[in-house]
Amino acid sequence: MNRAPLFFTVLTALLLLAGCSPNSDSQAPAAPEPDSATAPETTADSVSTTTRSATPDTAVPRDANGHIRPEALTQAFIDRKTAQARQAVKAFATALKSELKTALEHGGPLEALSVCHTRAPEITRRFSSDHGMTLSRVSAKYRNPANEAIGWQKKVLDEFEAAQRAGKPVQSLEHSEIVEIKGRQVFRYMKAIPTGKVCLTCHGSDLSPALQDKLHELYPLDKATGFKAGDIRGAFVVTEPL
Ligand code: HEC
Repeated sequence: MNRAPLFFTVLTALLLLAGCSPNSDSQAPAAPEPDSATAPETTADSVSTTTRSATPDTAVPRDANGHIRPEALTQAFIDRKTAQARQAVKAFATALKSELKTALEHGGPLEALSVCHTRAPEITRRFSSDHGMTLSRVSAKYRNPANEAIGWQKKVLDEFEAAQRAGKPVQSLEHSEIVEIKGRQVFRYMKAIPTGKVCLTCHGSDLSPALQDKLHELYPLDKATGFKAGDIRGAFVVTEPL
């Protein structure tokens, strides 16, 4: 059927910080058919889950294929999905940030950089399977080209930028929608990632020469410098075929 996408943006005041990014995850498993619906994320540093949902939503009506029925897509359902996505992002961000903090304290920025490069994908996988959703992070000014915000993600990031210019705090910017893609309902969520002071070590304008060398070696096409504290660094992305 030809449903108009249910589309809306919710603003809340959740405080979130994010650490280094998951690495480009070419290990994202071959996506089953429903995941083609979320193709924009699978080019980013996302990891698809093997189990469709860790906590199957038995409370909603489903068709013979186990797909959600359109009449189940109530505001209450979307609010519930949004709350789950927030939780997943919060836990994911906390894990990344604590990893980054430890690495910075123990070995300094160069060590932390390697952690971003290697540990983050493992954390991403763990959180994706824990929460039964696909988690990733994207940016318009990306370091790893695999994390480029494309399609709907870029559009939402542009909306976040506009909202920030209009005076909204970056921490409050989030977006939820349910769209029908190839006959399947897909829940999608994004949450803006603010640039904190600690991020400037690797994403600011005044990087140490050693760090610049290492970054250039690992990411010759790096666009993720020149940020200021308070800028939108990028966004978390959550998707779940319903
Ligand atoms: C020690 C250096 C370092 C610090 C500090 C750091 N990052 Fe990063 N960041 C990286 C690296 C390296 C990547 C690329 C990772 C990859 O290969 O996917 C990255 C990637 C990202 C990405 C994914 C998009 C992209 O550009 O590829 C986001 C979002 C991000 N960082 C946000 C932050 C935020 C927010 C902070 C501060 C809380 C931060 N980073 C601090 C090194 C750092």
